[in-house]
Amino acid sequence: MLTPEQIKENWDTFLNVIEEYISSDRADKLIEFYTQHEERFALMPASHKAQYHNCFPGGYIDHVLRVVNAALKLDNVWREIGMVDTYTIEELVFSAVNHDLGKFGTEEQASYIEQTDQWRRDKLNETYMFNDRLEYMTVPDRGLHLLYSLGIVPTKNEMLAIKLHDGLYDDSNKPYLMSFSPETKPRTSLVFVLHQADLMAARIEFETEWLPKLLGEKKEEPKKQTNNFKLTNSANKQKALKKLANPALAELMKNI
Ligand SMILES: [Fe+2]
Repeated sequence: MLTPEQIKENWDTFLNVIEEYISSDRADKLIEFYTQHEERFALMPASHKAQYHNCFPGGYIDHVLRVVNAALKLDNVWREIGMVDTYTIEELVFSAVNHDLGKFGTEEQASYIEQTDQWRRDKLNETYMFNDRLEYMTVPDRGLHLLYSLGIVPTKNEMLAIKLHDGLYDDSNKPYLMSFSPETKPRTSLVFVLHQADLMAARIEFETEWLPKLLGEKKEEPKKQTNNFKLTNSANKQKALKKLANPALAELMKNI
């Protein structure tokens, strides 16, 4: 679980990441959309079942920030090992920021709503349930549809990375990922870097929550996330600092 302060801090960091890494035409549209639905996004869980990852208020943004952080670090590892340069850092961060956007639902209907069945709340510890007013769509399809309908056009690399971010856990990705012919393999490693980042984040979220329970240990307070984002452009940094409503966070970010 996250404290209200952590939820607020994550939200500010989320907006700053968009502002820092994404070009202004797309960043402005993203920030406008996300802030329009600030309460929904800031409080959304990453999943609607306790057995899945980050199923608590603020879990979605917490997960997305962990994926951005992991993606930036994995990008360095891949480059060090010899990856051919086939994507930009903006494409990496854009894909990470929006990879699970489909979990939002639509502007009218949230995907995850409060569980109304008291028996399921009591016996199965379910806080949320899936909103069946929503037409079925996979998370990547819904996220991409939202982006296109908002006029925020992903590049081809970003579209493929978001579409395929579940890797081979999603059978429908097989034609893209199980090709044995060089001509039909993905031509960008962005797809694999984002999938690894998502896998790493979800695994760590599982370990943090479940390993102490499974091993019968006392649950520790959640560790404060260290995202290590670098606001490298000083103009952007000043702009981002001005937008911070939280004075303590603004002070902290002056030093990074
Ligand atoms: Fe994810």
